Amino acid sequence: MIPRGGFISFEGIDGSGKSTQARLLAAALQEQGRNVVLTREPGGSPGAEEIRKLVLEGAPDRWSAETEILLFTAARRDHLERTIRPALTAGKIVICDRFADSTRMYQGLRGTGLRRMVDSLHDLMIGQEPDLTLLIDMDPALGLRRALGRNGGEERFESFGQAMQEQMRQGFLDLARAAPDRIRVVDGARTAEAVAADVAQIVAAHLDRTLPA
Ligand code: ADP
Ligand code: TYD
Repeated sequence: MIPRGGFISFEGIDGSGKSTQARLLAAALQEQGRNVVLTREPGGSPGAEEIRKLVLEGAPDRWSAETEILLFTAARRDHLERTIRPALTAGKIVICDRFADSTRMYQGLRGTGLRRMVDSLHDLMIGQEPDLTLLIDMDPALGLRRALGRNGGEERFESFGQAMQEQMRQGFLDLARAAPDRIRVVDGARTAEAVAADVAQIVAAHLDRTLPA
């Protein structure tokens, strides 16, 4: 039998604390002796990191939503082939900061018919979901304040503003309602330690069921 690790993703609006929580979870699992790969999207493999630069830097209208769907899916395919699948096959736990749910929201909500396009391309080219997704939920005003507090050149999506972020928050919560076995909602508007404690509990219960130490 091929050994099979665990695939965990973090999702949520910009600034919700996904990267912080992904790092804390990876450290906690490593401390328990688990073999962990911490990765992110867009990116997570050399080729996908190159696509990340194309898609996150530059003017907000640099790409159409349709082209973005292709670029994010191309990056995901490379990430899956080069990083995620080899790690899962080796029995490792993959913790991924964003995955396909982000494309469903960030590109899929931008116009009529786009969500269907995202899902069709996902079925054709990716065909895999995380075993467990932690949705870090919070008021977009707080997320935006936190996100804008960071500096960097990757501002294409952060200029969307609060109305779009609110639509995305609701969209993420709808996804969670539609896939309650995979997606667990965590209240992100608390200290990083309090959020991490919830995350640790959910992940421990999940791993006890699927991947006993
Ligand atoms: P995301 O990856 O979702 O965009 P980050 O983890 O990068 O979010 O967090 C965004 C900013 O908010 C960072 O500056 C981070 O240090 C800070 N931050 C993260 N979690 C919390 C928290 N629970 N409370 C206050 N600030 C936080
Ligand atoms: P990320 O580095 O996770 O940003 P943040 O830490 O601010 O949450 O992701 C960069 C941006 O890429 C983010 O604004 C969301 C966007 N994105 C998409 O639009 N589609 C996707 O499929 C993914 C994975 C990310």
